[in-house]
Parts: sequence; C-alpha cells; structure tokens
Amino acid sequence: MRKIITLLVFLLITGALITACGGGGDEASEQAAVPAGDAAEGAKLYGQTCLACHGEGGVGVEGLGKDMTTSTFIAGLSDAELLAFVKTGRPIGDELNTTGIDMPPKGGNPAITDEQIAHIIAYMRSIQK
Ligand code: HEC
Repeated sequence: MRKIITLLVFLLITGALITACGGGGDEASEQAAVPAGDAAEGAKLYGQTCLACHGEGGVGVEGLGKDMTTSTFIAGLSDAELLAFVKTGRPIGDELNTTGIDMPPKGGNPAITDEQIAHIIAYMRSIQK
C-alpha cells in the first residue's frame, strides 16, 4: 500500500513540474514577439529619424541611405529580425554593407524605443513595392 501512495505522490509532483516548465516556455515566446506597429504613427517617426538618409517615402537618397521600397532585404526579414537590424545598424566595416556608408544604430537616435521602431517597421512594410 505504501509503495502505491509513494508512486502516486511521485507522479503528481512530476506532472506539476512538467506543467510549470510548459508555461514558462510560452511566456518566453511572447516576450520575443514584436508589438504590432501602426503605419501612420511609423510615418511620423520615420520623418523624424530616418527620412534624412532614406528620403521622402523611403525611396533612398544618393550617397546617404538605401531605397526601402524595393529592398528584398527588408521583405525577407521578420519583424523581430528587422527590429534587431534597426537597433544594430550596419557599419561600413560590416561585410553586408553595400554602399560604403554607415547605417547608424537606431538611425542615430538612441532615445528611440522598441515600440516606436515597431511603428516604423509597419511603415516600411506599407511602402514596399
Ligand atoms: C545617417 C543616415 C541613415 C539614417 C539616419 C538611417 N539610415 Fe538606414 N541605412 C543607411 C545606409 C547608408 C544604409 C545602407 C548600408 C549598406 O551599405 O548596406 C541603410 C540601410 C538600411 C536598411 C537595410 C536596407 C537594405 O536593403 O539593405 C534598413 C532596413 C534601414 N536602413 C532602416 C532604417 C530606419 C528604420 C531608420 C530610422 C530609424 C534608418 N534606417 C535611418 C543610412 C541611414
């Protein structure tokens, strides 16, 4: 009898542990998700931080920033990957740099938040051809 009770208690504890671990996993994947951005809000923020180099409507400025409307790089990235890219930028020393011009981290605006970048990402998606 005692053996059976011990076994039951063991099974209960194992079950509780497995449930707890499963819950933790869900939380981690939620944190990694980029909040849904608003393209109109993003257009304003883009005007303040990115327009000087990437031009009106994201068509690029010769010698400053790349065309975003035809960028297959942007099209090929998830929102989370784009967020990480904008936060890091692409310096001249980066082997992926194609122009010999710096893309500064956060577009050179250290105060910009993840939420604001998410709005800009929605804007970048909206202008893609
Ligand atoms: C000081 C100028 C400058 C500013 C400001 C700037 N960028 Fe850039 N950006 C660049 C340059 C230059 C490149 C291209 C780098 C290279 O040669 O690969 C680039 C590349 C990019 C790319 C990759 C495009 C591609 O097809 O490879 C994205 C996405 C991007 N910028 C987003 C942004 C966003 C969003 C902002 C505003 C938050 C911003 N940039 C602000 C200069 C700038």
